[in-house]
Amino acid sequence: MFERFVGSDIVSIRDFTREDIEAVFKASDLMLELYDREKYSRLLEGKILALLFFEPSTRTRISFEVAMKRLGGAVIGFAEPYMSSVQKGETLIDTVRVLDGYADVLVIRHPNEGAARLAAEYAQHPVINAGSGRQEHPTQALLDLYTIYKEKGAIDGLCVGVMGDLRYARTVNSLLLALANFKVDVHLVSPVPFLDPRPALLEEIRNKVAVQLHRRLQEVLPQLDVLYITRVQKERFPDPSEYERVRGTYFVNRDTLKEAKDDLLILHPLPRVDELSIDVDTLPGAAYFRQAHYGVIVRMALLALVLGALQ
Ligand code: NCD
Repeated sequence: MFERFVGSDIVSIRDFTREDIEAVFKASDLMLELYDREKYSRLLEGKILALLFFEPSTRTRISFEVAMKRLGGAVIGFAEPYMSSVQKGETLIDTVRVLDGYADVLVIRHPNEGAARLAAEYAQHPVINAGSGRQEHPTQALLDLYTIYKEKGAIDGLCVGVMGDLRYARTVNSLLLALANFKVDVHLVSPVPFLDPRPALLEEIRNKVAVQLHRRLQEVLPQLDVLYITRVQKERFPDPSEYERVRGTYFVNRDTLKEAKDDLLILHPLPRVDELSIDVDTLPGAAYFRQAHYGVIVRMALLALVLGALQ
């Protein structure tokens, strides 16, 4: 079940079948057990992970780092492009080739679409995409699904709402493609047309799951089992004046959620800015900090899988 991952790249969630996603869940369950038992293991002792982060990150970078260290491996690389020779004009390909020579696995985040794919073409070692451009964030989608699976027991049969910046949030893009492997009802809540998902994405998932588009959360809230919220992706707007027009167009607090099911699971990839009130944090279904913790577990699983440490 795990062989298919050995030595492979994780570039797009499109490369994952339902069976693959379930194998990641299995591996993550093993890692969770390991983590709860001893927090530190030697599974990846002697292995080196290289971080190539060309964009800001808190959770993704640090959770990859923690994941590698909890498994006994070491971490090198850079968290800001200005700390590397990219600042001097070195190309992405040269940077990748050099770090590929130093490490056993590469984790890359980059503002450009296709950057992780390009890195994977040039690297001999596995490349894991930690977010590229506006469309791909496969490890986030896997940890989002794993959180749903752990919190709800299963994914099939759920009614999942996804709200916020559906156009530029790569977490949403990858999550929707991942969800399309399951029997779910998807309700997209796009507060203003400018935040609507790209038509090509809608078409792609519509062939696989039932999808409805709403303007207001209240139209669908009472039916939802899961609500996934994202911030407006300010830095990804091609035109800053468009950002000014859409900022603040949606906001969720306890009051907004009055009509929700008691066990509504509330997820957010974080960081939150002004779209999700802290008064939601104390609801039992507010799982975004647990979700961030599962990020470590799922990334432990992915590293162990691609490095061939799981039988
Ligand atoms: C996301 C990202 O970088 O796309 N962050 C993350 O990995 N949790 C989401 C975001 O920045 O809004």
